[in-house]
Amino acid sequence: MVEAGKLVKRLQEMREEGYLSDAIMREAVKALKASEDRYDWVGIYLLNPEENILWLHNYLGPATEHARIPVGQGVCGTAVQEKKNQNVADVTQVENYLACSPNVRSELVVLIRAGDEILGQIDIDSDTVDPFTPEEQAEVKKVADALAVLL
Ligand code: SME
Repeated sequence: MVEAGKLVKRLQEMREEGYLSDAIMREAVKALKASEDRYDWVGIYLLNPEENILWLHNYLGPATEHARIPVGQGVCGTAVQEKKNQNVADVTQVENYLACSPNVRSELVVLIRAGDEILGQIDIDSDTVDPFTPEEQAEVKKVADALAVLL
């Protein structure tokens, strides 16, 4: 499980040291990916509100075909449309799912939001079924909430 408190502190320090949002988002993805063996793909999508499309900012894991996802499509686009985080325990049970790689079995999407405004999301894929504990989800949410302020 990611130590959100420690990571958030590091991200805040980066902001104070003058790092750009770009570097802060890369650091968050790197730390999340390293925090759990069960996290097989971690990325950040940013919402382009003019086009209503999610753009992949950066990721670690296998390459994906889904660099851009229209709002409403897939687990990622559904999270934005419904303004709701998504914990998909078994992706084979979800119709509206865009496969990143054939090994992926589960997915967690946590929105980066400032009040009602959605800026983007943290997306975590796992090759394990139902791996995301409530405690883990809460830690990822702390990271997403920090990003909403820091970006
Ligand atoms: N599975 C996602 C697409 C993104 S890739 O997993 C990286 C979805 O259904 O929206």
